[in-house]
Amino acid sequence: MEGWNRSLTRRRFLQHLGLAAAVPFVPAAQAGPRTAIKKAIPSTGETIPVIGLGTSRTFDAAPGAERAALAAVLQSFFDHGGALIDSSPMYRAAEETVGELLKVTRHGSVFAATKVWTDGRLAGIEQMERSRRLWGVPRFDLMQIHNLRDWQVHVATLKEWKAQGKIRYIGITTSHGRMHEELERALQREPFDFVQLSYNLEDREVERRLLPLAAERGIAVLVNRPFQLGGLFDKVRGKALPPWTKELGIASWAQYFLKFAVSHPAVTCAIPATSKVKHMEDNMAAGYGRLPDAPARERMVRFVEAV
Ligand SMILES: NC(=O)c1ccc[n+]([C@@H]2O[C@H](COP(=O)([O-])OP(=O)(O)OC[C@H]3O[C@@H](n4cnc5c(N)ncnc54)[C@H](OP(=O)(O)O)[C@@H]3O)[C@@H](O)[C@H]2O)c1
Repeated sequence: MEGWNRSLTRRRFLQHLGLAAAVPFVPAAQAGPRTAIKKAIPSTGETIPVIGLGTSRTFDAAPGAERAALAAVLQSFFDHGGALIDSSPMYRAAEETVGELLKVTRHGSVFAATKVWTDGRLAGIEQMERSRRLWGVPRFDLMQIHNLRDWQVHVATLKEWKAQGKIRYIGITTSHGRMHEELERALQREPFDFVQLSYNLEDREVERRLLPLAAERGIAVLVNRPFQLGGLFDKVRGKALPPWTKELGIASWAQYFLKFAVSHPAVTCAIPATSKVKHMEDNMAAGYGRLPDAPARERMVRFVEAV
């Protein structure tokens, strides 16, 4: 959509809600000259910024004021170089929220990722078509099978759709340590471009087998729950950052947690979720500067273990 047209739609949307003042608009040019750190998707070499956006709970917003307030959150994501948005039909109104806000925010190309989360081939197709209508995108960049649900059925559709150009990449997801053995089998057997899993300083189980397997098979990795659903903040509450984090350009605990997740060599992108502009700015800052190397990562683990 042309820029002027999009901002016109946005203005109308905000006028309609009477909320123009509540949603400050920051032009992309104000985001500064620095470039976001990107990593390559192994199956094509295409690069994406290492910080993406999750939408579970945070974007499950009712139409009206609640949803409109999230426009500023999404605009901040784009203004700081964000591209990949992850959602799912499981997240209630989140896909509808994303679709509505994409019409009223200013952005370049969005990397649209959602999931299929149902049983049966036809139900899967109907659900993916519905998601596309809700998002208002011509096609999804990434379609993932949510929590391995009926994966042997859906993977056939996804491969067909990819061959027909209806989606660009295919993936499969899990979280908090569930079904890792079956996920390994799926990754060994099928040509997935992406795998999505939980990885953070308190949950490092995937370092043992899944991350090495993804690296070996050239599968991009999306990290969900990078803050352990916010639990990591409770762990360090009241604790100051160690002084050596300055060298890594880390100015907050959120940046500490995110830089840890995305600096694993097998990880492509983390998808933290937030409903607040302040937290979005904090999270996006983790996608700039430098990433910790292996010794620095080790130090980060030891420090948090000792907290
Ligand atoms: N099986 C699956 O496929 C699966 C499973 C789980 C998650 N996911 C995906 O991964 C995404 C991320 O995981 P998640 O949402 O479960 O958990 P998460 O990103 O680890 O944590 C989200 C929580 O952290 C808080 N937060 C965010 N930024 C913060 C900051 N800078 N400072 C302090 N608090 C902050 C948020 O609250 P505020 O709103 O107050 O910022 C929110 O409560 C999901 O949204 C979803 O897209 C997929």
